[in-house]
This record gives sequence, C-alpha cells and structure tokens, in this order.
Amino acid sequence: MKLCMIGSGYVGLVSGACFSDLGNDVICVDNDTKKIDNLKKGIIPIYEPGLEELVIRNTKQNRLIFSSNLKESVKKSDIIFICVGTPTRKNVSSADLSYVYNVAKEISLSINKFKIIITKSTVPVTTGDIIENLISKKVNKNLFCVASNPEFLREGEAIRDFTYPDRIVIGTDDKRTNKVLKELYSPLISKGAQYIQTARRSAELIKYASNAFLATKITFINEIANLCEKINVNVEDVAIAMGLDKRIGSRFLRAGPAYGGSCFPKDTKAIVATANKYKTNLSVIKSVIKSNENRNKFLINRVNLILKNKIKNKKITFLGVTFKANTDDMRDSSCLTMIPELVKKGASIKYYDPTGYKEIFKKFKNVSYEKTIERSIDNVDLIIIHTEWNDFKSINFNKLINKKKTKIFDMRNIYSSIKMKNDRISYFSIGK
Ligand code: UDX
Repeated sequence: MKLCMIGSGYVGLVSGACFSDLGNDVICVDNDTKKIDNLKKGIIPIYEPGLEELVIRNTKQNRLIFSSNLKESVKKSDIIFICVGTPTRKNVSSADLSYVYNVAKEISLSINKFKIIITKSTVPVTTGDIIENLISKKVNKNLFCVASNPEFLREGEAIRDFTYPDRIVIGTDDKRTNKVLKELYSPLISKGAQYIQTARRSAELIKYASNAFLATKITFINEIANLCEKINVNVEDVAIAMGLDKRIGSRFLRAGPAYGGSCFPKDTKAIVATANKYKTNLSVIKSVIKSNENRNKFLINRVNLILKNKIKNKKITFLGVTFKANTDDMRDSSCLTMIPELVKKGASIKYYDPTGYKEIFKKFKNVSYEKTIERSIDNVDLIIIHTEWNDFKSINFNKLINKKKTKIFDMRNIYSSIKMKNDRISYFSIGK
C-alpha cells in the first residue's frame, strides 16, 4: 500500500519505518528540511533502539523515502497518517491542535483521488469531526474519509510495541476504510494483535483514557510506596501480589519518581480539559496530576532527610536524567524539577546519562556532566539512581565509592537492600 506519514517525529518515523518493513511504500514527510536531509543520509533525529537499522534497511529497498513536499507526497499516497505534535498549550492545559489543523488544510489542497486520512497524533475527542469539516470545505466527501488510529508506542520499546501490539484501534464507521486498514494491519493481526473497530470519537477517547489509567496505576503505587516507607513494608511485595490478580495486572506497578515523558503529563491534562469543556468532573485524573506533581517535592524531602537536613554544599550525582531508560527524551523528566530545586538549596550536581550531555542544564552554574559512571560517582555525598538503564544495574559500588562518605538513593529499586546492607553501603530505596 502507498502510505504517507505527515510529521517525521517519534510517532511518524517509527510507524513509517515499521510500515515500510511490512512491505508498504512509505513517504515520511516533515517541514523541517534539515531533518529530512539527515534522514535521507540515515541520520536519525531520536534515540530509539533498532530504529536506525530499520530506516537504513527500508531506505535501501526504496520502500521508505523522505520528503519535505507535503502536497506531492499526499498525491502519491492512498493512506495519509497525521503524526504531528499536539503539545500542551501555553497557560492552558488543553492540547494545541494548530499543527494538526494546518496539515489538514494542506492535505485538502492535494486530494486527487480517494484518500484515507488518519489521525495518529493524540487528539482530543471531536478532532476527527473538525478535520472532516475542514477538508470538506475544499473536497467532496466521497473523495476522503477521516479515521482515528491512536498509537500506543512506548519510547525505547517502540519497534517492539508496533510489531507486537496488544490491540490495534481503528475509529471509523466507513466500511471501505475499515477494510483497507484491516488489510494494512493484517501482518500484525495474524501474529495475535486484536483489531478493534469503533466509532471515531471512541478511538480518540480510548487513547486518552488508556494513558490516564496507566498514569493512575503508577501514581497509585507511588502513594502506596509512601505508606510502605512509614510502616516497614516492601512495596515490591505488595505490587507483585496485587499484579497477580488478573483484574489488576502486574505492569505499570513499579514505584519510582514522578512519571514523565511526552505523553502521560500532557494527555492527563488534556483529558481533564476536554471533560471540563463537557462539564464532567474527572476527579480521579485531577488527583493523579496533583499527586504526580507533589511527588517531586516528596522525593526532594527524602533527599533532605537522607542528607540529614543539610543539602547546602552537598555534592549529588544523578545517574540518568531522561524521563526513563532507553530514550534520550528529557520531556517532563522529573529531573527537570528536582535538579533545579536541589541547586536552589545549595547542592552541586553532577550527572551521567548514557545518552550524553543535556543542553537543558547549561544554564545552571552548579550542574555538570560527567562522561563516565565512574567519574560521576567519585567523591560525592549522594548518588541518585534516577533511571533504570542496564548500565546502572551492576555498578561495583564496593570498589568505586567511599562508603563512609557516599550514600545511594535508588529511585528505581534496582539494587537489593539486603546486599547493600551486607556490603555496609548506606542505601535508600523507594517504598521499603
Ligand atoms: C507512554 C505509553 O506507555 C504509550 O502507550 C503511549 O502511547 C505514550 O506514552 P512512554 O511515555 O514512552 O509511553 O513511556 P512509559 O514506558 O509508558 O513510561 C511513562 C512514565 O511512567 C515514565 O516516566 C516511567 O518511568 C513511568 N513508569 C512507568 C513508572 O514510574 N512505573 C511503571 O511501572 C511504569
């Protein structure tokens, strides 16, 4: 099939590369010409395991091409995926849909035969209706169909999530569109993915409700962890036993820092904004947002206790600063709140991250990047393990730190408290 992904960011690029790997002809479009020139040379703008190989392989086969010419790319394609960003608007919590609507207007100028237009970007309920109205101002309704096909890709696991999805959600009432999309996804359906066809508005809501629910699960276990810390209970025991109940499920019950990333913070706020518009009180999700914001303060407070109320002039190292492992993405990483707060309290911060130096900390005089784990943990008062990269899972602290001086706060519960105790390392974790 002939596909066009408009927006070659995370969603468009990963989905485009994966669709081409399934044998489709895919054009990935972006108005950032530098990005497109780089992609043509095999230079990938994001860190995503496996993506580079996929892009290079399919580019060589001529199944995957890159272009800045939206109109020509739309003309050549049968299925158009809108994959542009929907960031949170400044000063309000609803999604900024200007990129989506601009793209829809441009598409409407290039419809030369029947096109299926799909929103893959996370868009609030009724966005599909608005896109349909926008396009129908220029084009007869028989010449296009607007459907919703939300993505559920986790950064760092995106290729696997695309290839082995739990479910594929298609929001359309149009039989012809449904038939084409079912065929497009047939290689994944034959491997066991559930194909769910729903109304367009339902598909739009499914994405927000899913992310809000996952955010709720994380926040829930984070709060249970807070209680565990007070009553000498291990949150991991609680999570494992809870998760064995099939009604609950074991995933997304790992206590840790505040959740971050490009989706959960943005989507939880956006679903509340949508509900407000329809005078519906999503009180649970509102509490989740608040609880997650408070999590940073809570953890800073713990750092304060670990350092015996003396953060001033303390040397603190962060191992990992991205919002989670296997990504270089800093968006809404809890570090962006915790590091400035610790600097404000007089600490001096070093950090090491497998994805390298982060421009965002340049503005802080007391924040410096170290090129190796060893250098970053040398001669510091506190090591904070912030992300769960494999690189951090077997550090020889016995050899590398001064046990009399350096404490460890493991925010991802990577290490065994018992082993640390036996090794006489001053070790703190979450929910224990
Ligand atoms: C998420 C959704 O999982 C994906 O389906 C959606 O389409 C995009 O948003 P992503 O943001 O890449 O994916 O990361 P995810 O692995 O879901 O983690 C999000 C945040 O939750 C991270 O900060 C992570 O550290 C945190 N998390 C996740 C926990 O704290 N505990 C967990 O058990 C799981």
